[in-house]
Amino acid sequence: MTESAFERVEYLDHIDAITAQWERALAAVDTDAAVVPAGVAQLYFQDDQAPVFHPNPHFARFYPDDNCERSVLLLRPGERPKLYFHRPASYWYQPPTLPEWAEAAFDVETHGDDEELMKSLVKGVSGYGRIVLVGPAESCDLNLPLEAVNPKALVNRLQFARGTKTDFEIALLREATKVGVRGHLAARDAFRAGGSEFDIHMAYLGASKQQESKLPYPNIVALNEHAGVLHYQHYDRARPNPTRSFLIDAGGRSGGYHSDITRTYSAFPGDEFDDLVAGLDAKQRDTVAQVEPGLPFVDLQVRMHRELADLLVSFDILRCSAESAYERSVTDLFFPHGLGHLLGLQTHDVGGHFATEDGELAEPPPRFPKLRFTRAVEPGYVFTVEPGIYFIPSLLKELAESDAGRDVNWPKVESLVPCGGIRIEDNVLVTEDGVENLTRPVFDAFD
Ligand code: GLY
Ligand code: MN
Ligand code: MN
Repeated sequence: MTESAFERVEYLDHIDAITAQWERALAAVDTDAAVVPAGVAQLYFQDDQAPVFHPNPHFARFYPDDNCERSVLLLRPGERPKLYFHRPASYWYQPPTLPEWAEAAFDVETHGDDEELMKSLVKGVSGYGRIVLVGPAESCDLNLPLEAVNPKALVNRLQFARGTKTDFEIALLREATKVGVRGHLAARDAFRAGGSEFDIHMAYLGASKQQESKLPYPNIVALNEHAGVLHYQHYDRARPNPTRSFLIDAGGRSGGYHSDITRTYSAFPGDEFDDLVAGLDAKQRDTVAQVEPGLPFVDLQVRMHRELADLLVSFDILRCSAESAYERSVTDLFFPHGLGHLLGLQTHDVGGHFATEDGELAEPPPRFPKLRFTRAVEPGYVFTVEPGIYFIPSLLKELAESDAGRDVNWPKVESLVPCGGIRIEDNVLVTEDGVENLTRPVFDAFD
């Protein structure tokens, strides 16, 4: 949690806004109180070790710090949120201390003992009628008189509301962007200096000052054909020879909020792959510029496929009209993932398919079943715009076996397969009258 976000915006305004959201959501589903546990790290099977703790995002939205295992929030309409703060007296681990901002935001009760905390929580909910739990059920003593655990009608409303960020959340997303961009610039330099995937990954961690277990998602650091594996997960210790291309998809985290950024580079400035990167980069900028309140994200996805068709024809990769490449779904084999997704406390943030707060769904169109975001965009939404062009052998085989295979310049495609692919990913904020790219100005300022 960075101090600067607290200095620039009102954390307490954020707490007031989200408390009011919860009150409306609880009233809409006729519920009197909600218990929101931060959660407990789950041990590996037959082990006393656990992965690094990730708090329940419903809790994290109130409490922007990971150091909160076993704490619980109690939300009761008309009252200040109550924090049951867990602070064990341990000499094995460093106990958390209660941050000043938490004291200002919540009524706080501190407990060193989990059982005592639960007993007090049971007392806290007594007298309330319908009580629900929102979070990992296994982290609460279920002597609590609960009506329901994660009731869908309530969770849908909360997830829908998370699409619109408060000023505080936007400030944290800006911080997360700075964290990520510092890493990206160091990674690019490590690539240019001849580093392996592992060297580049370590340069990213060092410059962004992130420990690997706290990254928003595992870094994708891909040289050559590895760039055509969408979620490539290894870090080769040896640099390939020759090295042709470099794709890095890596983010930053601040106060629990994520950035999600991708850049692609050629090892040979001015070669055809480099030109294709520049071509996609220009199309990505044009697509971002289309964003305005009310635009259905599906329209942007369709537009991007049309732009890609254009690019593939203009690079003489496809020898047909752009219209025909789009209509016959040829672009789907070069760009097999969605154009973007909501971003926030989760990298693929929740609620991307909700048409309304009641949980009515805006299903992705049948042609694009993997599209994670289908809502019409509104001011305060933050999402990614991440087009790609990949040369993936299994998808190219499918293309070769289809009628459209006749319209492909195969020698050109074969020459690009060893470069893997290209993705350009920025994070954008919808404003009252348009869009702000959160990512590009930070690259410009830090480079
Ligand atoms: N880094 C995962 C994604 O871009 O969606
Ligand atoms: Mn990404
Ligand atoms: Mn993404």
